[in-house]
Amino acid sequence: MNGTVGDVVALVPAAGKGLRLGHDEPKAFVCLGTDSLLKRSVDGLRASGAVDRIVVIVPVDLLDAARGLVGDDVTVVAGGRERTDSVRAGLAVIGGASVVLVHDAARALTPPALIARVVAEVRAGRPAVIPVLPVVDTVKEVDLMGAVIGTPDRSRLRAVQTPQGFDADVLRRAYAAATDISTDDAGLVERIGETVHTIVGDALAFKITTPHDLLLAEALL
Ligand code: C5P
Repeated sequence: MNGTVGDVVALVPAAGKGLRLGHDEPKAFVCLGTDSLLKRSVDGLRASGAVDRIVVIVPVDLLDAARGLVGDDVTVVAGGRERTDSVRAGLAVIGGASVVLVHDAARALTPPALIARVVAEVRAGRPAVIPVLPVVDTVKEVDLMGAVIGTPDRSRLRAVQTPQGFDADVLRRAYAAATDISTDDAGLVERIGETVHTIVGDALAFKITTPHDLLLAEALL
């Protein structure tokens, strides 16, 4: 591939319940300071200057609430049971986009410059680009009973962030071939044999998952 021209569409899956955060409303609708995680993520995508269209994917009963939060220029669609279902619902409305970003609403403090770097790498001809950071803890693989069955070499492990960026045709093919769920979109692209390229992520792109993460995000604001 010689690089892409054309629309960049960002999909923002925000249809998860976010039970680990311990709030009544779904995580994307929880406020960080004055604004919801969803609004902050959408604002970050806009501020990157690298995204032409934004599609957010939310629980079906929160479509109107989401429209009120994100503004008229953003498309809002209903998500599904698993994250993969939600991204698939977003992919169904992107038309002829040439680059697709998938960006978790939960990574509300992601620097716009990181978003722009991911887009630039895809535009330069990479089929799939993900921001990553080295893993600081040793990671163990365990069995169902909690017994350790392996210790991967930490120096070769990376923690994966979003936005993940894709040539649109590659992501469409990956989803067309997907037969089960995946915790990230790049995993589906790996399965169809395309190379996923990593770039250096940013500590601020951390996923707000637990009450501790929300406290950290508030302190960072
Ligand atoms: O559960 P996890 O933290 O991995 O979710 C990552 C992102 O995917 C969150 O922004 C969440 O709202 C979204 N998601 C979704 N639809 C689901 C499950 C998760 O859009 N069914």
